[in-house]
Parts: sequence; structure tokens; C-alpha cells
Amino acid sequence: MPSKPCNVVVLLSGSGSNLQALIDSCHAQDSPVRIAAVVSNRADAYGLQRAQAAGIDTVVLDHTQFDGREAFDAALIARIDGFAPDLVVLAGFMRILSGGFVRHYEGRLLNIHPSLLPRYKGLHTHRRALEAGDAEHGCSVHFVTEELDGGPLVVQAVIPVLSDDTVESLAQRVHHQEHQIYPLAVHWFAQGRLRLGEQGALLDDKPLPASGHLIRP
Ligand code: GRF
Repeated sequence: MPSKPCNVVVLLSGSGSNLQALIDSCHAQDSPVRIAAVVSNRADAYGLQRAQAAGIDTVVLDHTQFDGREAFDAALIARIDGFAPDLVVLAGFMRILSGGFVRHYEGRLLNIHPSLLPRYKGLHTHRRALEAGDAEHGCSVHFVTEELDGGPLVVQAVIPVLSDDTVESLAQRVHHQEHQIYPLAVHWFAQGRLRLGEQGALLDDKPLPASGHLIRP
């Protein structure tokens, strides 16, 4: 395991329950993860309060104050890089990132998405899974590439869709799984076990399957 802690910057726009799960997972004495800062494009994001309660630096960068995506992303990179991150974690950051931003953090940018990718990229994933009559649903952690919700998968949690599930009940169970698999993936990265290779994601130097590591709780 690397002796140096892994500096992580978390980007969010909302509640930050995934940030909270990550904060809680760092309490283990030998955790190599150090959350250096939380950056939000919205001043009212509850995730900022969670960060402050944990003594983590926060930054608000309001995208409406910038003249276009490129200008915002350039400012975002400058703020993030001020914390010298080894890893940047998207945790409900509701902005599409420019190609320049994604390339800048290639191999050190993770996202979590509430579906079993490649199914249901984009929004309203729980409703779409229910409407399609899927027997299974879940969530995915992946490296971010320029294809929206399309980068190499790291880990997926697969849960059954129950006959009486509603959008809300399904969302709640998927969210619970997000809180398990995101800290797991971040710790793998921080331990030096997870990396992005030429052909996709590698865990312990072995290629992960196209689905990522599958967890069926
Ligand atoms: C999660 O559902 C995640 O999959 C998606 O954004 C949501 C963030 O939730 N990318 P929270 O703010 O962490 O509670």
C-alpha cells in the first residue's frame, strides 16, 4: 500500500450522501484516503454542510457567473488543482464536463451513476428501469471519459427489482448500494490497486470485466 495518503477532491451539486459515505469510510485508522476539499457549483448544496461538519475545505464556484462551459471548467480546474488531487470524485455533480476537463484528469476521475451501465445513461434511471420491466437494477462506478456515462466500469452493485417497487423504493435501495460501492472503489484507487489502462480498468493489474467487478448484495 502506498505510504502517502491519496488526496481526493469531491465535486457535488446536491445532498452529498455519497460524500457522507466516503467521509464515514475514511474513519478507519489505516484509510489511505484524504478528502482534501469539496467543490460545489451551487452555494445551497447540502453536501457543503456535510463537508464543513467534517472539517473539510469547501469551495463554491457558481457556473452562472462564467461565460460558457469552457471558462467555467478552466476556473474549476484551477481551483481543484490548488488542492493537488490524486483523484477527483464526481458525487452528484450536475454539470456536463468539457472534453478539456475530462482529458486533464484522465485516469484520476471517477463517477457514480444510478443504473447498471451501459443501460440508462442520463437521467430518470429508476423510472426507466421500472418502465422497461427489468428484473435487476443497480448502480455503477466508472472512470470518466469524454463519452457521457460511458467510461470503463469499475464496480457495479446489482439488486433485484421487486414486484411492488416504486421509483422511490427502488431509488432508496440503489442509493444504499451507492454508499457501499463508491467508498470501495475510491479505496481501491487510493491503495494503488485500481487504475485505468489502455484497454480499460485494471484491478491488481488484471483487467476488470466490461461490467466492472459485480457485487450482488
Ligand atoms: C446519486 O444518485 C449518483 O448516482 C448521481 O447523483 C446522485 C447523488 O446523490 N450521480 P447524493 O448527492 O450523493 O445523495
